[in-house]
Amino acid sequence: MINKIKKILNKKNKSKIICLTAYSKNIAEEVDKHTDIVLVGDSLGSVLYNYSSTRKVTLTEMINHSKSVRLGIKKSLMVVDMPYKTYDTKVSALKNARKLIKETKCDAVKLEGGKKIIKQIKFLINNKIPVMGHLGLLPQSVKGKFRSKGKTSKEIKQLVNDALLLQQNGVFAIVLECVKTQIAKKITQDLKIPTIGIGSSVNCDGQVLVTDDLIGLNETKIKFVKKFLNLKKIINLGVKKFAVEVKSKKYPTKKHSY
Ligand code: KIV
Repeated sequence: MINKIKKILNKKNKSKIICLTAYSKNIAEEVDKHTDIVLVGDSLGSVLYNYSSTRKVTLTEMINHSKSVRLGIKKSLMVVDMPYKTYDTKVSALKNARKLIKETKCDAVKLEGGKKIIKQIKFLINNKIPVMGHLGLLPQSVKGKFRSKGKTSKEIKQLVNDALLLQQNGVFAIVLECVKTQIAKKITQDLKIPTIGIGSSVNCDGQVLVTDDLIGLNETKIKFVKKFLNLKKIINLGVKKFAVEVKSKKYPTKKHSY
């Protein structure tokens, strides 16, 4: 097992695990200073390309963004989402995960689902590919509205069983997306591996957010997002100053000219 994963596992019950997304080098560089895990999430489909669903994200898009992110990471574990339809069978999962790792030098991959994709997950891990799980709300599977998970006894049973199944088969951590507070708490207590929550309460071992959301670059009204910064406003200020100085011929000066 690689050291960075051991470090993350050791944090369970000691200190919170910090995970954030990055889609490019410059953001990755800043994020990496504060994270344990940098995730190249397929959320880039909606955040950067306005896709109606992450189902439209391709392997090539994930590879290109991940190559850029790799340049910005010095210390965090780099995890890349396997896009929709790239892990339908265990053979395709292994072929595409190997391609992702070979071309991007990422450390691990993330797949959405539990029992339904356990054969693929098992096969990747048996072939020495570290896997991060993702349970609860699974954006690649949602057709209609996004809803929280763990409300009915059927859902709760499935979530708890899937989490245990993923752990038994060797995933090193599980993202819990929009899972009801008490269920996230139970899963976190039941597991030896860490849970990383998003909209799943403070009870998880760590938290993940889409960086563009928390820095206010991506406008969103999702309940679990807290805007820690209004970067849009700051960018606007800089760009406005540039435009004003160009128009008034204050920029460029001799100092900025050859
Ligand atoms: O795609 C993504 O960014 C994710 C996180 C939000 C967990 O899967």
